[in-house]
Amino acid sequence: MRISDKTWKRSHMCGQLNAGNCGQEVILAGWVQKKRNLGGLLFVDLRDRTGIIQLTIDLSKSDLAVAEKIRSEYVVIARGLVRLRPEGQQNPTMGTGEIEIDITEIEILSTAQTPPFYIVDDVNAEESLRLKYRYLDLRRPEIQKAMIFRHRVAKAIRDYLDGAGFLEIETPILTRSTPEGARDYLVPSRVNKGTFYALPQSPQIFKQLLMVGGYDRYFQLARCFRDEDLRADRQPEFTQIDIEMSFIDEEDVRQVAESMVKFVFSNILDIKLKDDFPLISYQTAIDKYGSDKPDTRFGLELEDVTSVFSASEFRVFKDTIDSGGVIRSITVPQQSFSRKELDNYTNYAKKHGAKGLIWVAYTEQGIRSSIAKFLTEAEIQDLAQKTQAQPGDVIFIVSADRKTVAKSLGALRLKLGQDLELIDRSKWAFLWVVDFPLFEYDAEQQRFTASHHPFTMPQEEDIAKLVSNPGEVRAKAYDLVLNGVEIGGGSIRIHDQVVQQQMFQALGFTEEEAWNKFGFFIEALQYGTPPHGGIAFGLDRLIMEMLRLSNIRDVIAFPKTTSASSLMSGAPGPVAKQQLAELNIELSE
Ligand code: AMO
Repeated sequence: MRISDKTWKRSHMCGQLNAGNCGQEVILAGWVQKKRNLGGLLFVDLRDRTGIIQLTIDLSKSDLAVAEKIRSEYVVIARGLVRLRPEGQQNPTMGTGEIEIDITEIEILSTAQTPPFYIVDDVNAEESLRLKYRYLDLRRPEIQKAMIFRHRVAKAIRDYLDGAGFLEIETPILTRSTPEGARDYLVPSRVNKGTFYALPQSPQIFKQLLMVGGYDRYFQLARCFRDEDLRADRQPEFTQIDIEMSFIDEEDVRQVAESMVKFVFSNILDIKLKDDFPLISYQTAIDKYGSDKPDTRFGLELEDVTSVFSASEFRVFKDTIDSGGVIRSITVPQQSFSRKELDNYTNYAKKHGAKGLIWVAYTEQGIRSSIAKFLTEAEIQDLAQKTQAQPGDVIFIVSADRKTVAKSLGALRLKLGQDLELIDRSKWAFLWVVDFPLFEYDAEQQRFTASHHPFTMPQEEDIAKLVSNPGEVRAKAYDLVLNGVEIGGGSIRIHDQVVQQQMFQALGFTEEEAWNKFGFFIEALQYGTPPHGGIAFGLDRLIMEMLRLSNIRDVIAFPKTTSASSLMSGAPGPVAKQQLAELNIELSE
């Protein structure tokens, strides 16, 4: 690197050096973390992405006087000798804390304004400020660690899949609407006025077309775009590890996916996941945990207690049972809650759809309950037996239709798990959820929609019910869940045109509508389609879980906010009138 009249060549990265390098001359470059001036001796902590090291600069030497100008975040390059720090000055909290560099030559490469926040790990700046100056935030060791980790995971995935005979093939970003069920991001076409590309919600259609094209065993680290409500584990653009295979069945896909995850955990975290990931049916997951992505790191499983109240005169129970609903409970062992806590949990269950939350506290002296006067002695005993409640336990009950019970008790279970610190955070709780329903009933539209997407294969024994009883058809679909987060999902696809047509029929599409929507794809399926299926993992989510972080933004270099904007670049932003005119677009006021 030629700077003014000198040529510099960096010899090491800061974090690489240790006592073993003593006596060596090195040239280091990086950012100034901080400096201290002790009576003419200047100590500068120099940072690069591998770590921080102390430079010691004797300001009385005229060649080094320039160092006096150094400020935080200046970029400098310096030559010096590695030596042990004097006795008593070693810093065991620093990777390079035993040594320092006795500087003989130094040059300021770039000055810096005072940064709006300190570049340290326990930064207390607002996230919005950090996102606005993301390039500064990216200098923090914690974020750098996440980015390096992400790189290594992506590399391990590529290594694994390459070794297993997969080809990485890119698919278009400017494409047509894909069927993942979120809203599309649209891009207007200048050349073909009045028409739009859609950004892919996933490469779903293309990876299936690659199977038709004969590229058995495809994968791609693919960018996906979905205009949907954002949460802590969702971004409008994110990355999938997208996989598709031909001539396989569900077990084959799950086996590849599971082996890949085990390979990555072993290579990157040195964690050997020996056991097979357990399989649980969608229905069991909903019944036991109130969720199709259960967190199995703690208990508090749901119990069906409908039968306990089959003869109840209590109106809430009676109405539920008469209308085909269910009564389910969660038993919290050995816990007492204050009135205020009980009210808070009731409000929480209500926020998640329940009309109310019933509680029953068992004590040595009998029960206390929000519905004590409605409970008969027989019901109390039955309930205790069914839930195996002991004196000191508290039972929470929701009585409603199945969906509401699952949603509210599922949410309450997670909240109790967190509040009572029941979640074992050292665990890696993987599980496959299988036997998903093929369709979901959309009460608003009064029709069935595809739970996954319209190319998902029904289970063989349910195909006969496709048109007559769609609600009962199960799909050849599977999700992989880790610690209560859906990290991947996929399915076997329909390769039989008759089944595909029945599927469209069940979804309420006429042949013409189906053809308009996915015509090129339906046509392709008519030219020799191998049986095929696949899966896609959320790479960002996987990394977030592996690093035990709770926010997806912390594993993405340039993330967006929950309102899908970039505080740094200002995207999305207005465009010039001229650009709109070229696209034949006029904005209404
Ligand atoms: P699915 O829609 O389930 O399946 O997506 C697969 C995985 O991608 C992750 N994911 C997300 N991550 C971050 N932000 C988002 N907005 C987001 N949405 C999804 C999840 C999810 O499990 N084409 C099918 C896959 C297939 O059938 O092969 C698909 O996209 O971890």
